[in-house]
Amino acid sequence: RVIRRADYAAPDWLVPDIAMVIDLDPAQTHVRTTMSVTRNGAHDRPLRLDGDMIEPSIVWIDGIEADAWTRTGGMLEIPLTGQHHIVEIEVLLAPERNTQLMGLYASGGLLCTQCEAEGFRRITFFPDRPDVLSRYKVRLIANKARFPVLLANGDPVGTGDLEDGKHYADWDDPFPKPCYLFALVAGDLVANRTTFVTRSGREVSLAIWVRAPDLAKTDHALHALSTSMRWDEEVYGREYDLDVFNIVAVDDFNFGAMENKGLNIFNSRYILADPDTATDYDYDAVAAVVAHEYFHNWSGNRVTCRDWFQLSLKEGFTVYRDQQFSADQGSAAVKRIEDVRTLRAAQFPEDSGPLAHPVRPDEYQEISNFYTATIYNKGAEVIRMMATMLGRDRFRAGSDLYFDRHDGTAATVEDFALAMEDAGEIDLAQFRLWYSQAGTPRVTATLTHHAGDGRAMLSLRQHVPATPGQPTKQPMVLPLRIKLFGADTGKPLGEERLFLLRDAAAEIAFETVTETPVLSINRGFSAPVVVETNRTAADLAFLSAHDDDPFARYEAMQQLMLDTLVTAVTHGHADHQAVIDAVRNTLTDANLDSAFIAEAVLLPSDSFIGDQLAVVDPDAVSAAREALRRDLGRALERDWREAYERSRANRFEYSPAAKGARRLRTVSLGYIAASGAADAAELAFVQFENADNMTDRQGALTTLVSSHADSRIAALDIFYNRYSDNPLVLDKWFSTQALSSRDDTLAVVEELARHRDFTLANPNRARALVGAFSVNQRAFHAADGRGYRFVADQLIALDKLNPQTAAKLVPPLGRWKRFDEGRATLMRGELERILATPGLSKDMFEQVAKSLD
Ligand code: ARG
Ligand code: ZN
Repeated sequence: RVIRRADYAAPDWLVPDIAMVIDLDPAQTHVRTTMSVTRNGAHDRPLRLDGDMIEPSIVWIDGIEADAWTRTGGMLEIPLTGQHHIVEIEVLLAPERNTQLMGLYASGGLLCTQCEAEGFRRITFFPDRPDVLSRYKVRLIANKARFPVLLANGDPVGTGDLEDGKHYADWDDPFPKPCYLFALVAGDLVANRTTFVTRSGREVSLAIWVRAPDLAKTDHALHALSTSMRWDEEVYGREYDLDVFNIVAVDDFNFGAMENKGLNIFNSRYILADPDTATDYDYDAVAAVVAHEYFHNWSGNRVTCRDWFQLSLKEGFTVYRDQQFSADQGSAAVKRIEDVRTLRAAQFPEDSGPLAHPVRPDEYQEISNFYTATIYNKGAEVIRMMATMLGRDRFRAGSDLYFDRHDGTAATVEDFALAMEDAGEIDLAQFRLWYSQAGTPRVTATLTHHAGDGRAMLSLRQHVPATPGQPTKQPMVLPLRIKLFGADTGKPLGEERLFLLRDAAAEIAFETVTETPVLSINRGFSAPVVVETNRTAADLAFLSAHDDDPFARYEAMQQLMLDTLVTAVTHGHADHQAVIDAVRNTLTDANLDSAFIAEAVLLPSDSFIGDQLAVVDPDAVSAAREALRRDLGRALERDWREAYERSRANRFEYSPAAKGARRLRTVSLGYIAASGAADAAELAFVQFENADNMTDRQGALTTLVSSHADSRIAALDIFYNRYSDNPLVLDKWFSTQALSSRDDTLAVVEELARHRDFTLANPNRARALVGAFSVNQRAFHAADGRGYRFVADQLIALDKLNPQTAAKLVPPLGRWKRFDEGRATLMRGELERILATPGLSKDMFEQVAKSLD
């Protein structure tokens, strides 16, 4: 069944107040819900409540037991005659049998919830749609010894003991909220606490709740929480609004984390961090996700979404906000490089494949399938473009106006655009195409120089490719930051310009261009587009050394590498010298910081190289990439060793400089290994053994695991034994092997799927093996189709337990059109086999059926 945006209608009934009494038990939980319901407008339709896998054990209307209700198509229908009624419903649940991890479920001895998008209907009957906002009062009851801590949304208002070893806790949330923000947690938890005083003097008690052994790993997250609370006051003028802010970490979670009002629930991988078990990447991700969920308190909770088609209203904006936050904590350029890398790795392929959809979709079958890189990351780029066009102050005025106008309501993407237009004095009529048109725009930029009259002409063209359901597109507004540099002097030729390309084609003239100009375009990745230029390898090498925007330097280097690799794949060989010289320049530039160098000298991934080709030959791509890596390793061996040595630290420290050094150290180690140096494995093993932190240890392990050295086996065993009781680190043990570039990776991964520590029941573990393997382009695309078969087998098994997590892993198989006939046929075969599986979930059905189209 397809849900369409055009069919939106306001709710028939509102639920201004709701009270819940939840008597918790893993085997049998009683949920008693009391709703005050109000007819919304003049109509005679019954009250229709969503319910999924639940049955009412009893229904009361205005205090009288009722039997006039019916069950139709998943809905509970209750005829009502007046304007206001009190409806009370009791439901029984078995959270320990909930393997989907939506609704109320058990994880490692805890009971917890996940309701977004449509999990609340698995807990009780309710109009499960984000435009029904209610004030919640919740009483939790549970066995006190087993569940000493009882948490829900809002502020705590009372606790007490009951008979039979039970106790209760009452929670009141004064802010009306949609049911997808409902949450509860019960368990034996301890808290890391601190106090935060808001700008206007409210004292908020912050707590991060975990199981006792994990308490020592929560300082980083708690610190990130205070930092993001202050940042949102300073940068967006947004303050926190309750007396408590609780975060709970759970091991079994379908995605990253959830912004439930006053009670965020997190995948433990985005909370727990200490130097021995978390990499620098993990530390950064913890801070970013803590900030993201906190920022939702305004962009998501105080102002929520009218319907799920508006999902990017809260997600795109909140991702943009967390990206800005992270950029402010360290190197903004490196953060931007990482964001763009993520966009290209996850969103561009989505936008050019069978699952492409607009940032504001027009239809869906299963909303869980739309928590995508397009909604999140492209959505953030759309907000970023508005910020670029408006400038900081007008963008802030637009954001203030948006929050003022819509506080306490469920808003739309259109409301956001209108606030920006009104406060920013800008016309976004054409810009709105970014919300409605899918597909990554392609820009062709040709620069010509007439030395005689000192003029340069830049001719620009745009084209938005067809996507499923959208065969023809209109030209979009592309904000392009552009600057020219003089090839002789290396100096800028004039100021940077922000050019808004609005038409299919445009020409820009540059005057007094007295020397040969080199084009720097889409600086800072000001528009999320693909740019093709007539720049030569020499131009790109020049920019990689002389551009004054670090992001643009990185881009020039990437483009040079990409051009070289594409030539190598299509012609069977390529000249590596320009890349080698450019990498040497960057690597030995004393003015650059290590974090930037480490990013800039990395080759584009196998899949990104594949994305440039008409038909992907994974073996040829990986051979070309390995050959360039080997040549870079050999030609610059002394420089890599020098960088490796200068990045050595005496002891662990978590600071931007120390992080940069660790990053460069492991990147250098990788190149030393790629050179084939005899001592590379030994160097890696020594780093592995002596490391006092997970970044160095995993960096060394990654190098070893792709090598031919026997010591890789020893390292894997040491790593496994050291961390066998730490699920998050064991995930790394699985994923590192699944990502190996060795020839035997597929066989190793098949074996790991039978390992006693492997289970599909835990989403992190499933992703660590199956998810990681399916993005290992060469191994997954083994020509005989064994990689496809392995993944399809796992997805069929996972779908029976957890459809949401299974459906998320479909896209790599869905990209069959990009590969040669032989592989495409095998991939389609596996998709067809999945589709033919009896009892397939609608999550999987939608993803697989669309992928076959
Ligand atoms: N709102 C959460 C976040 O981005 C994620 C919820 C994901 N839900 C889903 N059904 N996939 O912070
Ligand atoms: Zn979010």
